[in-house]
Parts: sequence; structure tokens; C-alpha cells
Amino acid sequence: MAKSSIEYVCSRCGHVNPQWLGRCPACEAWDTFVERATSISRDASVDVAEPVTLTGVESAVRVPTGVAELDRVLGGGIVPGSSVLLGGDPGVGKSTLALQLASALAGRIKTLYVAGEETPAQLGTAAARLGAKTEDVYVVPEHVVENVVTILADGRPGICVVDSVQTVHAAAHPAPPGSLSQLKTSTMMLTEITKSTGTVLVLIGHVTKSGDIAGPKALEHIVDVVLYLEGDRHGSLRFLRASKNRFGATGEVGVFQMTEKGLTEVERPSELFLAERQADVPGSAVIALMEGSRPVLAEVQALTSASGFSNPQRVVSGVDAKRLAIILAVLDKRLGYDLSRSDVFVNAVGGLYVNEPAADLGVALAIASSVIGRAVDPTIAAFGEVGLAGEVRGAASATRRVKEAARMGFTRIILPEKSAAEAKKASNVHLVGVADVDAAVEAALT
Ligand code: TYD
Ligand code: MG
Repeated sequence: MAKSSIEYVCSRCGHVNPQWLGRCPACEAWDTFVERATSISRDASVDVAEPVTLTGVESAVRVPTGVAELDRVLGGGIVPGSSVLLGGDPGVGKSTLALQLASALAGRIKTLYVAGEETPAQLGTAAARLGAKTEDVYVVPEHVVENVVTILADGRPGICVVDSVQTVHAAAHPAPPGSLSQLKTSTMMLTEITKSTGTVLVLIGHVTKSGDIAGPKALEHIVDVVLYLEGDRHGSLRFLRASKNRFGATGEVGVFQMTEKGLTEVERPSELFLAERQADVPGSAVIALMEGSRPVLAEVQALTSASGFSNPQRVVSGVDAKRLAIILAVLDKRLGYDLSRSDVFVNAVGGLYVNEPAADLGVALAIASSVIGRAVDPTIAAFGEVGLAGEVRGAASATRRVKEAARMGFTRIILPEKSAAEAKKASNVHLVGVADVDAAVEAALT
């Protein structure tokens, strides 16, 4: 092995100290010291890898997990030896998803489940409830990383789930369990061993309240893949998104529904998003979105009402507040809707987070509908980005959006003129290309 000794460096300001310190003497931040190797000297006994050209390197093999919505987000499956951070709010369903993954792989791949949160008995109960296949799922209640490393080196499971990274600590590392430097050290030790054993490491991390730095965010650069499981805690829908993927794209979204039998996959989310929609009510519009490569129809609701405050409220849920501000300014300028003394509430239904510019037109129509007090015709779906001059700008994947809208029974699609020219006509659907937001409101609400 190469000779190395250890020093500690402040992850905030870079101050170096031979010992670990709780507080950095340079920048006075707490719990920022992380371990690093110093002075790596060449050692004749070490095999140094020969550089090879990339043509000689095989691309990463992906093993489909059998959970299609998870595979979609991962870009096809798991990569042996890779590390995946699965983050999310407490109670959102991370342990459930990990158990279902282990179950889906049973018969092919052995899973080691390091249970730091629940007892093995509690996990057994959850697995039974899920109807999970558990013959290849080994559970160990363990909190010490060094012990996990030993178990991994001996047993070489295909997957190791650590539930959660906040409940394990490296005994050799002096920082307190749960602290940032402890989280980083534990994660680095685990990724190192799993890389060498070819094990897929699934690290579960609770997203802590903003402001708490000891959360999974700090681990994102250490792991290969970062997934977040999100969803409205009162609703049943769950969205799985990749915010980082060293083996593929990050745009895909997996959709699940939490049921008594765990997370069931939702292949076609439009039905669920529109299930409780009441047509003929002012303040509602249906938008045709792209979630990754999949078209999805969703409902946006808006409510405008006279404000009792000198500073009227803008309350958004699932919609970007800055984009709403632009849309309100455009509606004011182009259509004379003065909402400076009105509260405006906008909500993407179903816990969906709509961060696509092409959602603008739906948001604008929902607001216009609320202001005018007239419902958008229930046969209409819309998409398009609204520019600062009120122009409606073209959106990608027009044909797929139109097709999905047609499949969901919409017969008039209000869309950018440019997209209307591009989109292949679906049968029984009338495409209404609009140049600006005025034309869209006219088409949808008069
Ligand atoms: P869990 O996976 O334990 O959440 P996390 O690990 O992210 O903290 O699941 C959280 C909730 O899901 C829990 O309140 C119970 C519920 N649940 C179901 O509704 N159905 C199920 O089959 C299971 C296992 C859990
Ligand atoms: Mg859990």
C-alpha cells in the first residue's frame, strides 16, 4: 500500500490541522473537519494501474431491478459497485422502497439490510405487509461502520442497504455520530468497501429541515447516484427523482402510489392527476407536461380574491413563485388584470412539482379563469412557455403531449403556434396554435 498519514481539513475554509477539531480556529465553523490523507509516497510494493484508452474500457453494466419506475430513474438499472443515496423526508417511504427493491432482486441478488432505525422484527413486519420475497434479504442491526465493512467483505452481498446513514458511525473517527464529518467519513468508508466488493450501496438519508447541514446534501458529491423520494405527506403519490446520476440522465421521474401493500408503480400518472378534477369550476386548467421523457396531464388551480392585507399574498404549491410573478405581470400588462390588491393562490394538484416553463400557459389560464369567474372548457388542455412580452413560446415534445392529451379525452389543445406546426395531428383533436397569452385566454375562456 502507498504510505499515507491522516490530517484534518476544514470543509468550509480549508484550514488544516493534524488533529480533528470540533470547531475550526480559522473560520470558527462547528463540525466541519474531515479526514484526508497526506503525503502519499510511492511504494514499490504497490501495483500502479496502467492508463488505458477509453476504447478498451467496457461501459457500465446495468442490472434491471424489476421495479420499472426505479429503473426509469436510474437509467435502466443498478450498476454493480456503485453507490446510491436515497434521500427524503421521514415517513415518505424510503425504507419501503428499499425493501421492495430487495424483494424484486430476491432469487437473483442477495441483499444485506443494515437496520439502524427499525429493529429486524419491525422490518420483518413491514416486509410481510408488502408481501415481499425475503429469502435473500439478510438483516443486521448495526451502527458501527467498521462492523458493516467486515460483514460486507465476508458476505459480499449484491446490495447493501444502510438505513439510515444518520444512524451509523465510524468508531475510529472521533466526531460525534450524526455529525457532518462523521456522515462523510462513514459514507466514504462504505463506498470504498462496496466498490471493491462490487456491491451496490444504497444509503438511506433523511432530509432534515433546511438549515440543518448534517443532511444528505453534504454526501451528494461522494456517491454516484442521488435519488430523492418526494410527495405530499397527506396524499398517496410519491415521486422519485435523480438529482445526480454518474451513469445516466437525471430528467426522469418515477411515480408511485403508497398503498397498504407498499409503493405501487404508476405507469400512467395522468389518470391519477386528473382523477378528482371538477370540470366546470373557474380557476382550474389542465396542462400537458413532460416529466422526463413521459408526457403527463395535470391540473393547476388558481384562486384570486380581494386581499385584506396591504401586502397581498402570493401562495404557491408545486409551482415556481418567480414564474408566477412573471405570469401575473404579463396578465396585468396584456389583459389589464390588476391583481395588486388581490391574494393569489396557485396549486399544482396531486403533490406534483411543476418546474417546466411549458406549464406557464396552464397557470395563466387558471388565473384568468378565476379572475373572469368562468370555467375553462373541460375539453381543453394547454401547454406553452409565456415570455415577458406575453408571447407564447414553443415547447419540446409537442407531439407526445398532444397524443397523451388525446388519450385522456381532451379534444382541443391550446399550444404555441410553433408547436402546433410541428406536432403530428392526433385524430379527433383540434390544435389551437396561439401567438400570445391574449389569444390563449380568448380561445379558452370566451
Ligand atoms: P417508510 O418506508 O418507513 O418511510 P421512511 O423510511 O421514508 O421514513 O414508510 C412510511 C409510511 O408508509 C409509514 O407511515 C407507513 C406507510 N406504509 C404504507 O402505507 N404501506 C406499507 O405497505 C408500508 C410498509 C408503509
Ligand atoms: Mg425508514
